[in-house]
Amino acid sequence: MLKSFGQKLTQLLMSFLNWIDYRFTGSGSGMSDEEAINDPYEHYRRIRANGKLLRTHRNRGWMALGFDETQALLLDNRFSADLRKNAFLSKMIRLAADGRAVTFLDNPTMLNLDPPDHTRLRKLANHGFVHKSILALEPRIRELVNEYLDAVPKNSSFDLIEGLAKPLPVRVIAELLGLPEQDIPRFQGLSAEFLGLTAIGNNELMDIGAAAAEELGQYFDGVIAAKRQNPGTDLISQLLEVEQEGVRISTAELNSTCTVLLIAGHETTTHLIGNGIHLLLTHPEQMQKLQANSALIPNAVEEMLRFEPPVQFTVRSALEETEFFGKKIRQDQLVMAVIASANRDPDRYSDPDTFDVEREDVGHVAFGYGIHLCLGMSLARLESRLAFEVLFDRFPDMKLAEQNIEFVPVPLNRGRKRLLIDV
Ligand code: HEM
Repeated sequence: MLKSFGQKLTQLLMSFLNWIDYRFTGSGSGMSDEEAINDPYEHYRRIRANGKLLRTHRNRGWMALGFDETQALLLDNRFSADLRKNAFLSKMIRLAADGRAVTFLDNPTMLNLDPPDHTRLRKLANHGFVHKSILALEPRIRELVNEYLDAVPKNSSFDLIEGLAKPLPVRVIAELLGLPEQDIPRFQGLSAEFLGLTAIGNNELMDIGAAAAEELGQYFDGVIAAKRQNPGTDLISQLLEVEQEGVRISTAELNSTCTVLLIAGHETTTHLIGNGIHLLLTHPEQMQKLQANSALIPNAVEEMLRFEPPVQFTVRSALEETEFFGKKIRQDQLVMAVIASANRDPDRYSDPDTFDVEREDVGHVAFGYGIHLCLGMSLARLESRLAFEVLFDRFPDMKLAEQNIEFVPVPLNRGRKRLLIDV
């Protein structure tokens, strides 16, 4: 298919800037995009050897690679999460999107807003995610895990991603939001495609992402209109009720809140479960420890998040000229908070490249830090813990059925496309 001039230009520019970064700033690893997708930790290890806060021309900004630098960046209100405030990045996204609407710019979710808008939207959504009400979902989630695993024939091979890790989180978030079960296949596909919007430089994925964002927006417009007429007890109806009580939230903001809950709420958890089981199956001594003592599972989940974070980085841009870890960051420059690197910082962790379910220094930035700290972390922890508990219980002898693992092709995320296991 012929690509537009703008898209071709973006791709060419990216390759050139990659080369500049490798040769001159130390923020390139010399690995190809494909190699970096397969082993991002080696990619970042090589870059981190050149410094923990490095200039990068690829995003006309900087990369924070150390644990302290990443945490400090995410806490610092001189840096914004609002992509519209970065002229270069918004221009690149616009070029790559080729005229299509882009959610992050046209109707940003709380993830890409600063206070006071962020505070207002976050406060509203917080109601649905208080730790206690999430823990109350335990029996239902356990029931769902069992239901998915009931469908797996004894002595067979099954794909853990398609059979459990994908359907479980989407079903849970759909139930929380009050979305009809029959719509799940539609928005599951759309939200996977939506992430293509983050693959700047990959025109095909960007095209697909922009189209999915448009369709998802239309879908939620329909859902919100229906719930206004006929409210239920779900989270969307609760948000509508709060709106009626006088808290200012526009329909567009409601729409973007639904989008972020749907997207942030299931792809990431899918990867946590898939990455976690793959890690255990390739580290049998660690698996044995968990099977011998299920009380270790919560710590193992934290170690999985540290070792293989499903969200590999996030970005902020400088609102003003800023001194940061001895470097001068100019106004409008972008800084990547590289979670995948921070979580393996040798100055923070002993043996950072060792996967150890009993690790004591397990605190990580896989859920971010500061005001945007993941809203759904209690839910993600609960779903994954229950998935592991039920899997160990039902399939104590599970084994990897194939060694060749393909990773999702989006650098922002880390996850296995498929995970065949013998049970
Ligand atoms: C393993 C699973 C998950 C991971 C690794 C993860 C990771 C993250 C990260 C890194 C951030 C911060 C991004 C930034 O600062 O730019 C974040 C924010 C967020 N996450 Fe999660 N997340 C997960 C699961 C969930 C779930 C289950 C939900 C909801 C149902 C959710 C909803 C959100 C929302 C709404 C935000 C934005 C919060 C804000 O801007 O204040 N996440 N997540």
